[in-house]
This record gives sequence, structure tokens and C-alpha cells, in this order.
Amino acid sequence: MRVMVTGGAGFIGANFVHRTLATRPDVHIVVLDKMTYAANAQSLAPVADRIELVEGDIADTALVDSLAANTDLVVHFAAESHNDNSLADPTSFVHTNLVGTFSLLEAVRTHGVRYHHISTDEVYGDLELDDPDRFTETTAYNPSSPYSATKAGSDLLVRAWVRSFGVQATISNCSNNYGPYQHIEKFIPRQITNVLSGIRPKLYGHGKNVRDWIHVHDHNDAVWTIIDKGQIGETYLIGADGEADNRTVIETILELTGQPTDAFDFVTDRPGHDLRYAIDSTRLRTELGWQPQFLDFRTGLADTIDWYRNNQNWWQPLKAATENKYATTEKVVE
Ligand code: NAD
Ligand code: DAU
Repeated sequence: MRVMVTGGAGFIGANFVHRTLATRPDVHIVVLDKMTYAANAQSLAPVADRIELVEGDIADTALVDSLAANTDLVVHFAAESHNDNSLADPTSFVHTNLVGTFSLLEAVRTHGVRYHHISTDEVYGDLELDDPDRFTETTAYNPSSPYSATKAGSDLLVRAWVRSFGVQATISNCSNNYGPYQHIEKFIPRQITNVLSGIRPKLYGHGKNVRDWIHVHDHNDAVWTIIDKGQIGETYLIGADGEADNRTVIETILELTGQPTDAFDFVTDRPGHDLRYAIDSTRLRTELGWQPQFLDFRTGLADTIDWYRNNQNWWQPLKAATENKYATTEKVVE
């Protein structure tokens, strides 16, 4: 089976490549990645001789068409993925998340290729902290940021290409991932690498915002479950019942690294900051039989801290530039 993995040099895509090579000997992987600031060639270095890496833009229709002509399955991870960046400049988000997805859909339509679309729970907007409900496959779309709006639009393109053109596609919307190879602009690796660099962790606003954490391996196993057993045209939510507020996550990282649990700064809040995400993944569990395996968030965090401690060459070159970028907008507040 020839599989094209878009965005395979990014966080979730690189983990998907490693996990697929470890568990599916019949799969040949072609990674298509633009190698933006979010990609890291080192993430694929250990498997460089077992995959094809094509450096290119998913919005390049001629390139995508030629690759799709020789592909059985496209798993589409490539995206501009960081909310804060989308607030600073949404341009690349519209290009990659909307125009890029359109280009892939046209290619899989032309060549009759199976397509799986990776999306996010952020398409549903946010929940109140005390809301007993969680997101399900029937929750109305209500995205808040330019990032989540472009992801929502890309999901709707997929649905239209299924209905109008018979494209063989499935969609998954997952909650917040953590684990190895995540860019240090994101919350958990930013705070871990702050502590490892002697910088105080930074908590946006009041810190009560809740995210529903899932280990990246659980996400990628769910993606293969949907590819293997999902119904064409359907959407599946992926989540592992991992709700935690941001302050608790920072305090746990500080505790696990032997620091005082109050050794962090409150900083200016993210504009339009979504309050809470929570996924009900009953459909995926009951219809397709998926179960998360990495259920102990504290152990998962400890393992992730170890990964960043043991892989400083992977993230050290990015640290100063990442923090300098945050420093242009972020102010410590009392
Ligand atoms: P990431 O930012 O770590 O990686 C994105 C990758 O896409 C990078 O390698 C980048 O170079 C590549 N890319 C960007 N623009 C491209 C283009 N025009 N053409 C080709 N490649 C391009 O992102 P991630 O966190 O690994 O997220 C992967 C996918 O999962 C995204 O679609 C995201 O919306 C979705 N998702 C992420 C999370 C999460 O918690 N990180 C949760 C749910 C869904
Ligand atoms: O829910 C899925 C989404 O999760 C994905 O679609 C996105 O691609 C992914 O980036 C993530 O979005 P978030 O905005 O939730 O993730 P982020 O890591 O940027 O922030 C997580 C929470 O932590 C959020 O409430 C903002 C807060 N935060 C973030 C940073 C970077 C802080 O308090 N301090 C920080 O320094």
C-alpha cells in the first residue's frame, strides 16, 4: 500500500510515520511536506532510508496530482496549526488549510484515491467550564480563531467532495495532542523547555482554560482504526477523557521537574481564547472498537519531559527565536 502523508515532518505526522513503519510492514510512505518553520527534518532522520520525503506545497496542484497518481491512500496532516500565529497573520492559514486541502481533494477525486482528513475539535468553538456536555459528531460548527475557521472550512470542503463527487473520504476531529516531536511554540513543550532553560513557564490569562489532552500515539492509532474500519463520508471524534486546566498542567510540569509549583508567570491572555474543549468519543469506541492506551496523563507528561530532556539537539536551535517571538506581544501581569 502506497500512503502519502502530508505534513509528515511536523509533530503528529512524524509520529504517524514512525508508528506506521513500526506496525505496518506492507506500507510504503511518501511524505509531502513544505518544510515550514514547524517541520523538523531530524524528526524523520531515523527512518530517512525507509521513506520518500518530497519537499513541496500541498497547494501545488501539479505536484500533488502527480503524487496522487501513484498513491492508494492520502492521510492529510499538513496545516498551519498554531492559534497564536493565526491571530498575528492568517494569510498562510487560508493558503494551506483551505487552498491546500482543495488541491488535495481535486487530486484524490481525479485518481480515485482514498483520503483521510485530520481535523480538530476547535471547529466546534468552546464550552463553558461547568457545561455537562461535550462535543459530539453532531455539535454545530462555531470556530473562534482564524486557525479553527480555516480547519472548519477544510472539513466542509471534504464533506462537499464526498457528496458531490463521490470522493472516498473520512474525517477525524481530535483534541489536544502531547508527546515527542511537538514544536516548542505549543503549550506543553514550551513550558517543559522553559523549565529546562531556566525560564519561568508562562500561563495565559487566568489559567482556568481547559484542554482535553490525548497522547499522540492514541490519536494516530485512532486514525488507522478509522482508515481500516470507518464508514466513507463519516466523521469520528477522537478523545481520551483527558480534561485538565492549564494551571494544573503547568504546576504538574513544575512538580515533575523538581521546581516550586508557583514558579510561573501569568501573562497577557490570547485574544478570543477558547475556554474549554471536551470530546465525547463514544462513536469511535462503540462503532469501531478503538480504546486509548495512554490514559495516565501524569506518566505521559513525565515521559514527555524525559524526551525533551534527552533530545535537546532537536529543540535547542528553536528556543531563542520562539521566545523572542512571544516576547513581542506577551507581558507578565500580576
Ligand atoms: P505541525 O504544525 O507540527 O506540523 C504541520 C506540518 O505541515 C509541518 O511539517 C509543516 O511543514 C507542514 N506544512 C505546513 N504547510 C504546508 C503546506 N502548504 N504544504 C505542505 N506541508 C505543509 O502540526 P501538528 O500539530 O502536527 O498538526 C497536524 C494536523 O493535526 C493539523 O491538521 C492539525 O490541524 C491537526 N490537529 C492537531 C492537534 C494538536 O494538538 N497538535 C489536535 C487536533 C488536530
Ligand atoms: O484542540 C486541538 C488543537 O490543540 C489543535 O487543533 C491545534 O493545532 C493545537 O495547537 C492545539 O490548540 P491550542 O490553542 O489549544 O494549543 P496551545 O498549545 O497553543 O495552547 C494550549 C492552551 O494553553 C491554550 O488554552 C492556551 C494556553 N497557553 C498556550 C501557550 C503557548 C498558555 O497558557 N501559555 C502558553 O505559553
